[in-house]
Amino acid sequence: MKLTNCLTIIIAALLISCSGSGDDDPNVSPTPTPTPTPTATLKESANFPIGNIVSANRLSGTDTYFRTLLNKEFNSITAENDMKMGAMFVGPDTYDFSKGDAIVNYAKANGLRVHGHALVWHASIPNWLKNYAGTDAEFEAQVKGYIKTTVAHFAAIKTTEGKSVLESWDVVNEHFTNDAAAAVFNTRIGSDYVSKCFTWAREADADVKLFYNDYNLGSTGSKAAQVVDMVNTFKTNLTPIDGIGMQMHIDLEYPDLTTLSNNVTMLKNTGLLIHFSELDMSVNKDKSLTTLTASRANAQKEKYKQVAILYKTIPEAQRFGITFWGMRDTDSWLINFLNNPNEWPLLFDSNYNYKQAFIGFLDGLNN
Ligand code: G3I
Repeated sequence: MKLTNCLTIIIAALLISCSGSGDDDPNVSPTPTPTPTPTATLKESANFPIGNIVSANRLSGTDTYFRTLLNKEFNSITAENDMKMGAMFVGPDTYDFSKGDAIVNYAKANGLRVHGHALVWHASIPNWLKNYAGTDAEFEAQVKGYIKTTVAHFAAIKTTEGKSVLESWDVVNEHFTNDAAAAVFNTRIGSDYVSKCFTWAREADADVKLFYNDYNLGSTGSKAAQVVDMVNTFKTNLTPIDGIGMQMHIDLEYPDLTTLSNNVTMLKNTGLLIHFSELDMSVNKDKSLTTLTASRANAQKEKYKQVAILYKTIPEAQRFGITFWGMRDTDSWLINFLNNPNEWPLLFDSNYNYKQAFIGFLDGLNN
């Protein structure tokens, strides 16, 4: 092989391996060689929205292929990070909605739905609020002001038919946790802070759908039951809530389909909307692989198919949609979180090629 060819291959490999988060994308404009070739798009195969995550940077950057694929396959978007408290609530009574605005306006221009994520999450509290020196009452007033201002702000961005582009918010994310960072809301607002956040959001917008979002809701732990208890309490004390987000960060074995299905049943029996809100599927938890083998790819294909089939067991009126937590494998948060570059959790490979996982999910939708 000629030296120049070698160099080209090495540079191309480096570009792919360094791509990391979609925010840092180099000028990716690949000519995909779709193997296998899907026979339909995701969004036309489902009677509920199919979403993916975005960042403002990626919606305006040079990676035009991302946007082409997004618009082709998906009809709902969620900000991976740009619409979290840490990104928007920059100081007391001070907000930066610029990236959120860019995302919602992109959705408006392209006929997509926006699911807002996430108003209150202990992992995204801005430092100034974490270390807030004011009284508890002042702390609560800040959080209340933030929720009301943010919800009202995005509700005002309308389609030409006069409907809000942003349909829904994860109002509180991951309340059921032992993470010490979460205690600040309990400590400073009180044990009813979750209920208060939902009430403030509803006061700001009578129509927006309000979700509680959490992980491990499909597993054997007690979380799903805790969420059901919370929803029942909300119903009793008339706290507004419209839906439950099951994050669905799953892997090939966990949770098994029976447990997952039982938990979906438990949650759908609340009568609320159900959102599979952050779907991805780790395939190399044991770090035994350095390339995605055909057998592991097929196992992922089959489980994605079963996830789509399972979602369709939810009554139509309760299907809020399925949102994937990333486009290409190399975009996934799991690569950092699991500290493993050899992880392939999503529907597209690093070059935006369709994976067997995509075909499996599509088969499940069309099943
Ligand atoms: O933007 C900065 C960059 O300027 C800086 O150089 C770099 C150095 O670490 O950090 C960058 O910020 C990172 C950000 O992602 C953007 O890439 C943060 O450190 C990192 O913590 C952040 O991680 C996000 C994580 O939530 C925490 O907010 C992940 O992208 C995002 O996928 C993840 O999503 C969460 C959901 O919101 C809630 N459910 C769980 C899910 C996975 O953790």
